[in-house]
Amino acid sequence: MARIIAIANQKGGVGKTTTAVNLGASLAASEQKTLVIDCDPQGNTTSALGFPKDPARRTLYQTLILDEPIERVTLDAQVEGLDLIPSDKNLVGASVELVLMENREYRLRAAISGIKEKYDYILIDCPPALDLLTLNALAASDSVLVPIQCEYLALEGVSELLDTLMRLRRTINPSLAIEGILLTMYDDRTTLSKQVAADLRSFFGGQVFDTVIPRNVRLAEAPSHGMPVMFYDIHSKGAESYIQLAKEVIANAQKRVGSGPERSDQGSGAQSAAAATAGASGGAGAPASSNTPDDSTGTSGSGGAGTGSD
Ligand SMILES: Nc1ncnc2c1ncn2[C@@H]1O[C@H](COP(=O)(O)OP(=O)(O)OP(=O)(O)O)[C@@H](O)[C@H]1O
Ligand SMILES: [Mg+2]
Repeated sequence: MARIIAIANQKGGVGKTTTAVNLGASLAASEQKTLVIDCDPQGNTTSALGFPKDPARRTLYQTLILDEPIERVTLDAQVEGLDLIPSDKNLVGASVELVLMENREYRLRAAISGIKEKYDYILIDCPPALDLLTLNALAASDSVLVPIQCEYLALEGVSELLDTLMRLRRTINPSLAIEGILLTMYDDRTTLSKQVAADLRSFFGGQVFDTVIPRNVRLAEAPSHGMPVMFYDIHSKGAESYIQLAKEVIANAQKRVGSGPERSDQGSGAQSAAAATAGASGGAGAPASSNTPDDSTGTSGSGGAGTGSD
């Protein structure tokens, strides 16, 4: 049974798509059968995985709005063990059309219920908005992974997102957990990056992944070649960091199996994080990303991951 992870942050350009594509490929390379769902009308995940715009292609729109079986829109992403449900700009219409539909928040959940058995992981790339597409993704997911760019005002919008997550847990998805907060575009040559990373760790504590994604030009180049970074430049810091992240995600899943239900399912996670953004000192309540002995990429705000060089 797949673990379904929404990759969400309503802030634009923080690395959601880069994470969906490269974590997806890295999980598949770790022999975890993975499906990436492009839930963003921008279709960036679709093109980054090698599918240029094609008006004839069926997309998530057909499934979400026209009830086409999800298998009919699923593509082989040309990476062993990785499938893709593509999107294109028609999905803009979906977020409007959904408003009038019955069970409008649960359409995606219903659509993927029949294919959960086929995968180990399903990653859902969300648009930069808290719209009905994102709500559908969050209603369908076991957990949410929040990429945060290591820059000035990094926390802007995060408390709104966490408030929304808590509301969702009271309403449409009581079991939604926090998979982790991922620091992206980290540049250890700048004091600002280090300071922002340290602040985020002190706010969110154990909810922050040990793995940090460095700013790396290979990660920005790979999409224009239609491939995940590990096939574009396996030796780049960007490729290494996403492989490390996949290991951390898998290790956390194994820990969960060993320790029973997630504590964040009981509500401690988002609450402590929200309290943290409100200025309290909490944030260490959730166990999603605690240290593992071999997490060499990890840092604790000290900037050990990646040199930022390309
Ligand atoms: N670690 C990184 N190093 C260098 N460039 C990066 C990194 N992560 C992402 N980028 C680049 O930054 C831009 C924004 O990244 P991405 O598209 O993943 O963000 P997003 O959150 O999905 O954006 P949107 O909100 O528009 O969907 C892209 O051009 C991407 O190639
Ligand atoms: Mg995106």
